[in-house]
Amino acid sequence: MSISDPRLLRDALGCFLTGVTVITCREPDGTPRGFTANSFTSVSLDPPLLLVCIGKGAWSHDVFTEASSFAVNVLSEDQREISGLFASKSADKFDVASWREGTLNTPLLDNTLAWFECTPEQTIEAGDHTILIGRVAAFDHAPKRPLGYCRGNYVDLGLARSSSRDNESQVGAIIDHDGKVLMVRPDAGSQWTLPQTVGKTSEDDDATRESLVALFAELGVSVGPMFLFSIFKEADETNAIYYRGEVTGPHAQSETLRFFDSNDFPYGDLPHPSFETMVKRYFKERRELDFGVYVGSETAGTVTAFSTS
Ligand SMILES: Cc1cc2nc3c(=O)[nH]c(=O)nc-3n(C[C@H](O)[C@H](O)[C@H](O)COP(=O)(O)O)c2cc1C
Repeated sequence: MSISDPRLLRDALGCFLTGVTVITCREPDGTPRGFTANSFTSVSLDPPLLLVCIGKGAWSHDVFTEASSFAVNVLSEDQREISGLFASKSADKFDVASWREGTLNTPLLDNTLAWFECTPEQTIEAGDHTILIGRVAAFDHAPKRPLGYCRGNYVDLGLARSSSRDNESQVGAIIDHDGKVLMVRPDAGSQWTLPQTVGKTSEDDDATRESLVALFAELGVSVGPMFLFSIFKEADETNAIYYRGEVTGPHAQSETLRFFDSNDFPYGDLPHPSFETMVKRYFKERRELDFGVYVGSETAGTVTAFSTS
């Protein structure tokens, strides 16, 4: 394979099964910061060292390279939403996640599998990332199952939960054209649905978006960049991940593909009330040009606003 294609290299490196962590610290003014990372590795027992790599493009890069302490929060299998949240550019991640104060003043997330509080030992520049080596000052772990990550998908390592449904996500999108939202249906007599597909997917990941791109190619609708809009578990435990995007080219409406505005939207056709809530939130946030990301269950969760800075 060609080394000059970073995508190919990324795919190959992504074959390595890892856990998922959220790395946290505080800004000098006390503001908590955090990002999702699977580059965490233990380094040494004596002295107790670990490392994590942070991309130079991360908004929090400089905060972490200058922080006087940081924490590694190892996520448990039921914390996919937390992983998605901290992999986003959301402005108030710490208003959504529940957390507490560590002994080194680092934010420690609740319900994790393990945590390590560290002081910075060494910072190494390495290409487009910086390696943060930390000396462990405090740590703990709990008898939970880990969240795994491989080939761009979350991997549930829990032996007790083996039904295929557990590994499936419903991936869909709210696609806008002049304030109207795209609905599709298999034939003229069927109910309208939001465009959606089912697959092994992960939050805010390129592979997830690509499955949607393929869907829109099939529908003959060209769509611009897509942004994460909602992550929730449906009543039947299916994970649902919805993006938002806009039509970029000409499109034809038909008996099976139509754009609806907020007044004539076929809410009655939607499968669950949670979808109605999501679409109504979309229309409202579009009017206000202030989009957020919903993370939660079908019935309870939080909308996180994006930073406009
Ligand atoms: C499973 C997973 C693992 C990730 N691992 C890393 C990582 O090791 N290092 C990194 O810099 N970004 C990693 N990311 C991407 C960051 O979480 C993402 O860029 C985030 O937006 C950074 O936050 P910030 O820009 O607010 O600092 C990962 C994302 C996911 C979903």
